[in-house]
Amino acid sequence: MGGVNPYIRKVPLNRPVAPFKITFIDEETGTSKSCVLDPATFPYGHIGLDGSLLAIAEEAGVEINHSCGGVCACSTCHVYVTDGLKTCNAATDDEEDMLDEAPAVTPDSRLSCQCVPDGTADVVVVIPKWNRNLVKEGH
Ligand code: FES
Repeated sequence: MGGVNPYIRKVPLNRPVAPFKITFIDEETGTSKSCVLDPATFPYGHIGLDGSLLAIAEEAGVEINHSCGGVCACSTCHVYVTDGLKTCNAATDDEEDMLDEAPAVTPDSRLSCQCVPDGTADVVVVIPKWNRNLVKEGH
């Protein structure tokens, strides 16, 4: 499943104009994976909002649970953006409503399918332990 949720407000986004780095940290294993995104060549928009953290993770081979397919209709793609959060689009009321359903929400919490960095700084994303446990229980 994927696509756009017709029931939520369209989000204005600033497109990256220069390469920037994203690091994904798996809270459960402590492992990390970094990738440099070149806005000229990196494919965007496969899942979630165009250029979302979830889309970037998918492209980089980093697994983040996403039960609704990236349409802001669950909270399973909850991550912590510990660096570069200010370079991302602001969370909408729809995203905030879904985050209310997520466990262990912090000021760094975002839904990865709705969070789009503008590329003006490097970004660090922590994938919570419980996200990994949900994935394991689903298999
Ligand atoms: S995948 Fe469901 S809200 Fe992000």
